[in-house]
Amino acid sequence: MSEYLGATLINEQIIRPAKNIFGSLRLPGDKSISHRYGMLAAFAEGTSRFGNFSTGADCASTLSCMEALGAKVRGAEDGVVEVTGVGGRVTPTDEPLDCGNSGSTMRMISGLLAAQQGSFKLVGDESLSRRPMERIRKPLAEMGAQLKLTGGHAPVRIDGGPLKAIDYTMPVPSAQVKSCILLAGLQTAGTTTVRESVRTRDHSELALRAFGAKLTRTLDSVSIIGAQQLHAIEGVVPGDISSAAFFLCAAALFPGSSLVVDMLGLNPTRSALLDVLTALGARISVLNLEEKNAELVGTVQITAPAEGLGTTQISGSLAAQLIDELPVLAAIGPYTSGGLRIRDAKELRVKESDRIALMVKNLRAMGAEVAEFEDGLDVPGGQTLHGATIDPGGDHRIAMAFSVAALRAGGPTVIQGAESTAISFPEFFELLDQVAER
Ligand code: S3P
Repeated sequence: MSEYLGATLINEQIIRPAKNIFGSLRLPGDKSISHRYGMLAAFAEGTSRFGNFSTGADCASTLSCMEALGAKVRGAEDGVVEVTGVGGRVTPTDEPLDCGNSGSTMRMISGLLAAQQGSFKLVGDESLSRRPMERIRKPLAEMGAQLKLTGGHAPVRIDGGPLKAIDYTMPVPSAQVKSCILLAGLQTAGTTTVRESVRTRDHSELALRAFGAKLTRTLDSVSIIGAQQLHAIEGVVPGDISSAAFFLCAAALFPGSSLVVDMLGLNPTRSALLDVLTALGARISVLNLEEKNAELVGTVQITAPAEGLGTTQISGSLAAQLIDELPVLAAIGPYTSGGLRIRDAKELRVKESDRIALMVKNLRAMGAEVAEFEDGLDVPGGQTLHGATIDPGGDHRIAMAFSVAALRAGGPTVIQGAESTAISFPEFFELLDQVAER
């Protein structure tokens, strides 16, 4: 059901309970990898070509910002995206660069532009304009960059120019901040090093190497020597495991389910969900493993345990590695036998929404008992939920997480503002209908 109220599209999606999850899926390209391939290709020399590029609005924001800076982007047949890069020098523009809802776009592009000649202004939507940007300003300022925030947030104004290399220890694990510094370091004489206590997703490191840059890594650091020129590549983006998470968790809820997802990205810094689902009792096999531009890709098959899901705790570095999957894990928590405990996940409060607050609010709306903590939540197991009206607060992952919770509820659930799913996964509801047996 959707209707126009003035200029605002109000799109409600009704999710009816399911009896089982069954089938096979191939998912659109990983959002994190697509951002990096799109941005690096647009900065490189030559024309790159990518199959299975993310269909989400976030990656479209990255491409349109890079187009505004002089890159050429062309959508070819079969979901192929062609990007002709600026050869290491962007064209400044007086127009603000609109990053939409995308934190990855704003934080990574800031690193790229801090070392370029010219002035740039980055803006975002209401949600992005609430998110912390001091975390990129600080290391970039240490490099000598001129970056002005608005009360710690976007709009971000950058007066770019030559930088100096730094050795930076990240106070909060963040792949976006790490990538921002590496993109500035790529253009800076000397060795720029980023140290992290938790190995966050390493797509930037793998992509930079694929585009020809030299990086060195230790267990807890990555270094890049500048200045280096990137060269165009061809590639296929692996399916998005954070999107697959909704289907894998849905399948884990139904004894008798069977779901196969092929061409799925299985980078070890992203695949902790498979370990957590296994710890909860799901049976998972991984087949056909191969590497594409150093990214691991494979087929995942999942079946649910006949006795139902068990219990687990997610804390410490695991919380950081699973940060995008925590909403859907919390949403299936009530249906486990022993419940789910999430801690050390305070970062969830500064994502597209305050995800802890919205998980708690919407679990309660469905009749669940849940305890809220500053850095996580406790969801007791063995609960029966009823259908409810869900307010995802404009957050794509909250909308999809509660669509999964709705599959085992006692009645239909209404997901408000369901159009937010287009941020990362426009095909979500269609594919859910395809594998949910009713
Ligand atoms: C991302 C990193 C994570 C994640 C986001 C995508 C990336 O954010 O939550 O969805 O592509 O680097 P942080 O870097 O803020 O942890």
